[in-house]
Amino acid sequence: MSQYLSVVAKSGQVNTPPGSYVTVKEWAQKSFVNPSSTILEIGCSTGFITIEMARYTGAQCTGMDLHEKSVQTAKQNVDRFVADRVSFQQGDAGKLPFEDNQFSHVIVSGHLPFIPAEMRSAHIREAVRVLKPWGHLLVALYYYKSPPPLELLKEFNAKIGTCLTQDGNRSYWSCLFEDQPLSLEYASDYAVSCDDEDRTRAYIAQMNPETAKDWETYLRLFNDNGRYLQYFVQVYRKIPDESGLMLQIPRGGIYEVNKISERSF
Ligand SMILES: C[S@@+](CC[C@H](N)C(=O)[O-])C[C@H]1O[C@@H](n2cnc3c(N)ncnc32)[C@H](O)[C@@H]1O
Repeated sequence: MSQYLSVVAKSGQVNTPPGSYVTVKEWAQKSFVNPSSTILEIGCSTGFITIEMARYTGAQCTGMDLHEKSVQTAKQNVDRFVADRVSFQQGDAGKLPFEDNQFSHVIVSGHLPFIPAEMRSAHIREAVRVLKPWGHLLVALYYYKSPPPLELLKEFNAKIGTCLTQDGNRSYWSCLFEDQPLSLEYASDYAVSCDDEDRTRAYIAQMNPETAKDWETYLRLFNDNGRYLQYFVQVYRKIPDESGLMLQIPRGGIYEVNKISERSF
């Protein structure tokens, strides 16, 4: 387990997905999360997504992570207003301790960069296994809009504990979900801006001061790596393995459709 993950747990850092609150809201809105939903977050770290999903939606939320200390910190982060709807447990995403078809929503994203490339498809298959038929799989992943220098990538992987490669572009990450019984329902892409000093200072100020020194290195690496990044948010639906289902092929019907305006008043 990387030193970085231990520092995350110790520092009180709020370990968010790409886009933080914006992504949690986008997922919730685009996948019809409601108080009767049951959500599993795989690789929950210190609990941000699981707890915010419960706060925004009233759903029953479970977070799971391999790293024992992160799970302990996640449990401490649960407030009394959502405590009856949030739980955390330790487990391996490669062998989920859950039944087939158990959850209405599964979030699988942030742990994928931390596992070797050859294991990623099997982990996504596990996530789909525990998802109910017609349930939603929620994804948000950074990708390289242009390849980062090899030296930077090596240092990033060594210090953060990731298994990233220069070819981790949009198509690479998106294709991982293609050989599953999933239909893509929604996708958006975001640009990333880095090197904002005020933002960095505010980010560090919220953390345990004992870990400030470690964060200097991590933030430099995140900023250097961030220059090559964009991310996508995606929502898939699990298509049941059954004949006679009414499905539109191609999706969207006879015409390709693109929204040309939206107004809300
Ligand atoms: C960057 S954090 C994810 C934070 C947040 N959930 C997100 O999606 O952005 C990555 C987490 O994946 C966890 N992880 C790595 N390998 C795992 C595995 N095999 N099973 C479960 N969690 C794993 C790490 O312990 C770490 O807490």
